[in-house]
Amino acid sequence: MSFPIHRPRRLRQSGAIRRLVRETALSADNLILPLFVMHGKDGKTAIQSMPGQYRLTISALLKETAEAHRLGIPGVMLFGIPKRKDEVGSEGVSPDGIVQRAVRAIKDQCPDLLVMTDVCIDEYTSHGHCGVVKDGKILNDETLEVLTQMAITHAEAGADLVAPSDMMDGRVGAIRKGLDENSHEAVPILSYAAKYASCFYAPFRDAAESSPQFGDRKTYQMDVANRREALNEVALDIEEGADIVMVKPALSFLDIIRDVKDAFEVPVAAYQVSGEYAMIKAAAEKGWLDEARAMSESLLSIRRAGADMILTYFAKEVARIVGKGPIG
Ligand code: PBG
Repeated sequence: MSFPIHRPRRLRQSGAIRRLVRETALSADNLILPLFVMHGKDGKTAIQSMPGQYRLTISALLKETAEAHRLGIPGVMLFGIPKRKDEVGSEGVSPDGIVQRAVRAIKDQCPDLLVMTDVCIDEYTSHGHCGVVKDGKILNDETLEVLTQMAITHAEAGADLVAPSDMMDGRVGAIRKGLDENSHEAVPILSYAAKYASCFYAPFRDAAESSPQFGDRKTYQMDVANRREALNEVALDIEEGADIVMVKPALSFLDIIRDVKDAFEVPVAAYQVSGEYAMIKAAAEKGWLDEARAMSESLLSIRRAGADMILTYFAKEVARIVGKGPIG
């Protein structure tokens, strides 16, 4: 049966009826705000390619986290910018490192806010790679020890959840074991399970000054052309103990988010990465796109694809809008 009996427009004719039949919603509950923390007494520095985002000293960070909490955002994800980078990323595993300090400060001020930490050494290494480097090669198993150490120091500082983003093989299992052996069996792991070698991380690397100094990340991050491989990566991470799995980036990998959602029974996260944010901001600045609508549409599409939660630099803006009523 079809037209004239069926007229799908009947259910679109008013805002009220559209609200009743809307299938996907965006709420502050779904959001995680990524934040960059650096050394220094106070203040913040703007990140050129990410308008509205900053490298924050701990005192400035505490203002952001208090605001995020007030807006109803459940959690933040911390990325650290160390004082000094070296071959092995020493500050990343130091109990006195910038992220470890930041975690303690936030938990002190705002115990109910979920503090999550990125576990990866690229922000701390002079070569900018996510693994230990020897003779121009990224070593897998040697990196696992460093990542495990890093995760333990984060948990020790009070992190509520750790999120390995390095894409080394076996890291989830190694970190789970390390946490458990150090009485942190209650700390969940959100693994960047299907993380692609994407060009959309460029603004982040500008923010964290973490561009690889030689080569690229294609020997550990996934080939953007692959789909089946993502399911394999996710399956391995779940087997090794991942509590939540992430697909990253989001917008150019909506099919992967859906695949993962359909294939597994664990919560799925997606990361609307720096380049996705920058695209919308740049087009809006030029007056070519309506920023609020582009933001909502892209985030709704990520939810529709199957993401239970989204890491997004727009988190505060979204929370502000949905606080006033449903979005879309
Ligand atoms: C690695 C890491 C990266 C991002 C999150 N964790 C950069 C990379 O893999 O090069 C990118 C996030 C973004 O682009 O917003 N520690």
